[in-house]
Amino acid sequence: MLNLLVSRPLLLLSKVVNVKCHSIIYATGATAKRLRLPREEEFWSRGISACAICDGASPLFKGQVLAVVGGGDTATEEALYLTKYARHVHLLVRRDQLRASKAMQDRVINNPNITVHYNTETVDVLSNTKGQMSGILLRRLDTGEETELEAKGLFYGIGHSPNSQLLEGQVELDSSGYVLVREGTSNTSVEGVFAAGDVQDHEWRQAVTAAGSGCIAALSAERYLTSNNLLVEFHQPQTEEAKKEFTQRDVQEKFDVTLTKHKGQYALRKLYHESPRVILVLYTSPTCGPCRTLKPILNKVVDEYHSEVHLVEIDIEEDQEIAEAAGIMGTPCVQFFKNKEMLRTISGVKMKKEYREFIEANK
Ligand SMILES: *[C@@H]1O[C@H](CO)[C@@H](O)[C@H](O)[C@H]1NC(C)=O
Ligand SMILES: *[C@@H]1O[C@H](CO)[C@@H](O)[C@H](O)[C@H]1NC(C)=O
Repeated sequence: MLNLLVSRPLLLLSKVVNVKCHSIIYATGATAKRLRLPREEEFWSRGISACAICDGASPLFKGQVLAVVGGGDTATEEALYLTKYARHVHLLVRRDQLRASKAMQDRVINNPNITVHYNTETVDVLSNTKGQMSGILLRRLDTGEETELEAKGLFYGIGHSPNSQLLEGQVELDSSGYVLVREGTSNTSVEGVFAAGDVQDHEWRQAVTAAGSGCIAALSAERYLTSNNLLVEFHQPQTEEAKKEFTQRDVQEKFDVTLTKHKGQYALRKLYHESPRVILVLYTSPTCGPCRTLKPILNKVVDEYHSEVHLVEIDIEEDQEIAEAAGIMGTPCVQFFKNKEMLRTISGVKMKKEYREFIEANK
């Protein structure tokens, strides 16, 4: 009975493979909504971004004029965050007022480095002769007047949609599609099915709240399995190298070309010149939530190719010049190098398969 209940969502999940289990933690997150501008695809992560906190610090946007779309807490928070890096920030608001909390409104309105444009619709992005984003086409909703605004970056702060499609009709969702959990727990409407992170949280959506709910879900699943006598323990051996590599800092004496994982630009330069292996360079920034998602994914893939590849993590705030030289426009981003040649750039967080296939084809 139990088995049947919890394996229902999995049967759907598994168009490709059929996995059966006694409990599941559903943590598929929420995806930032897009405006679907005519040139959005063309400028996605080359000027348009859905995450100021992830991409705001990238060299592309430093000291530039930037714009944020939206009038809620997310948009105002992003606008304020961007003033740390930008020359000026425009906030583009469709309505004649902000939806954000009073405190956020005050901070935005009193900040001389933010200009709020009300009744303003974002129509499209504009480019210069070099094909780089150079501005935004705006339309006043009250007068219909169109204007061009100079801007090197456009950030979406217009909300998220939960990735809960697979659970529709099987687990209770709220009217916006968020998975309903019992207050203070990760229990969904189906026993043994737990939900964590943004897919069940339309309010806070922070890395720490997601991590907290993930912990609750993990403990709940364990408790659920234990109380039903279904717990099977299994331990993963840790290799000697795995213990060593995270203490490996960007210092010359400690650099060892035979290690698989490294950090910092010194290691990257050495490997680039001295190692025949495929090098995966992971560009991260301290405030980037998706980077924390990608790290374990990439670490697992790299562990599979232990001694055949290198992984180098570059913090783009610490190693600005190298990020700039590599043309990094947002984090996380992975670049593949071999024999002093850059083979490919993969932006964002992808499935393990994508990184694996590329290593497989080039190692
Ligand atoms: C506005 O920008 C200027 C120049 O970039 C900076 O010196 C100033 O501190 C900023 N003001 C605020 C309130 O952020
Ligand atoms: C949550 O689920 C667990 C395990 O299924 C159960 O033991 C617990 O009573 C539930 N808590 C609430 C508040 O429903």
